Amino acid sequence: MKHIDIKKLFDEKPIGKSVTVCGWVRTCRDSKNMAFIELNDGTCLKHMQVVIDKSKVAAYENCMALGSALKVEGELVNAASGNGVEINAATLTLLGGCPNDYPLQKKRHTMEFLRTIPHLRVRTNTFNAMLRVRSVLSDAIHRYFQQNNYVYVHTPIITGSDCEGAGEVFTVTTREWDAKAKTKEEYYKDDFFGKKAGLTVSGQLEGEMAAMAMGKIYTFGPTFRAENSNTTRHAAEFWQIEPEVAFAELSDIIEIAEELIKFIIRAVLDECPDEIAFFDERFEKGLTQKLRNVVESEFKVLDYTEAIDILKKSKKEFVYPVEWGCDLQTEHERYITEEVFNKPVFVINYPKDIKAFYMKQNPDGKTVAATDLLVPGIGEIIGCSEREVDMDKLVAAMKQRNIKVEEYEYYLALRKFGACPHSGFGLGLERILLYVTGLGNIRDVQLFSRTVGDLK
Ligand code: 4AD
Ligand code: MG
Repeated sequence: MKHIDIKKLFDEKPIGKSVTVCGWVRTCRDSKNMAFIELNDGTCLKHMQVVIDKSKVAAYENCMALGSALKVEGELVNAASGNGVEINAATLTLLGGCPNDYPLQKKRHTMEFLRTIPHLRVRTNTFNAMLRVRSVLSDAIHRYFQQNNYVYVHTPIITGSDCEGAGEVFTVTTREWDAKAKTKEEYYKDDFFGKKAGLTVSGQLEGEMAAMAMGKIYTFGPTFRAENSNTTRHAAEFWQIEPEVAFAELSDIIEIAEELIKFIIRAVLDECPDEIAFFDERFEKGLTQKLRNVVESEFKVLDYTEAIDILKKSKKEFVYPVEWGCDLQTEHERYITEEVFNKPVFVINYPKDIKAFYMKQNPDGKTVAATDLLVPGIGEIIGCSEREVDMDKLVAAMKQRNIKVEEYEYYLALRKFGACPHSGFGLGLERILLYVTGLGNIRDVQLFSRTVGDLK
């Protein structure tokens, strides 16, 4: 179907030309001699106004229902009001009508209601803007790494290991239920892979293997966690960006993380001004300024021990009490980043017992060379560390966590053959999207969200 993107018409403004556009009716208005339709084709947030002279355009009434798919041909003219453009319709073709039980009516719907119609909510301005920001953010992430000599690797989605060791792996099986097997091993022996398999929680372990040859790699793909936390920030399926860098220590990887975050936020500010203005108006007042500040500020680096001191001295009533050794809860993270520093904060050197087995142990014997990047409004968006390369320390850390060492043979071999200091991190795409859009719930930054008890 020969037609032109509505975005292109707004950008290039070929006034006086006959143009054809296709899209869905967003609003319509019928007056005495004229009718008006606002058409959106998804290429931009703006709608194209179609002006209909009723005496000239046949059967326009059939094309007025909200949600209908239309083809419009006509002359592009300067808009009667404002400095935009509009189309004086010559012909309208109804491609697909839309009866009046269409769930998206003219009023503003709640996000909760929209979650019940994931197949249609993409047709709202909010999802139009969110999906475009998600796309531009993803592209900027690739650009940052490609421009800096990283290799994009695709780590497996089906794995036999649990990178985070947190027992949140979704099992992958082709076996029907069979109660005859006496042990789990016996049951999975006859399964597809001859052993238990699951969906990856992180591409890090395989990413480290690639980095030990390619130097600088990143992954960008879906990861899965059967995390039973019904929060606004946890999804069972989410996208992670995981760079892994050889010859990098914790301070080096922190610099990379900060540079990446600033690069991608700058890209969104430059490339999605309409979308950010929309979110600023509708969801988070001051969003644009917040993002500009992030690009221009220097992120804070704060030792975990200092963070605990700050929290203890805060006199705030936290639900989870604070003691050295405790994991930081979202309430603690938000206090530090929102109320104390009001900017992104890297908390470094966490107690080793609350962190994953692969993190490099510090000389103090108590902490690891790890950091979480916390941002106002969200909490953690990045989990990061230098990796343990001392075989003995690594094996001991695994045993302490009851991890089956024999299942990590390849991973451990990296410590034997040409090991070197290396570091990496995982950035949650949905978490950074929440931060950049001001949307408040992870369920609203995915096309289809997968969260506990909810699979639409
Ligand atoms: O801190 P995490 O668990 O770190 C890792 O998985 C490391 N293997 C990363 C690495 O070093 N290569 O997760 C990394 C990030 C978190 O900071 C968060 O942004 C996101 O992934 N994340 C989630 N996002 C949405 N829903 C969940 N359930 C998430 N769990 C983690
Ligand atoms: Mg983490």
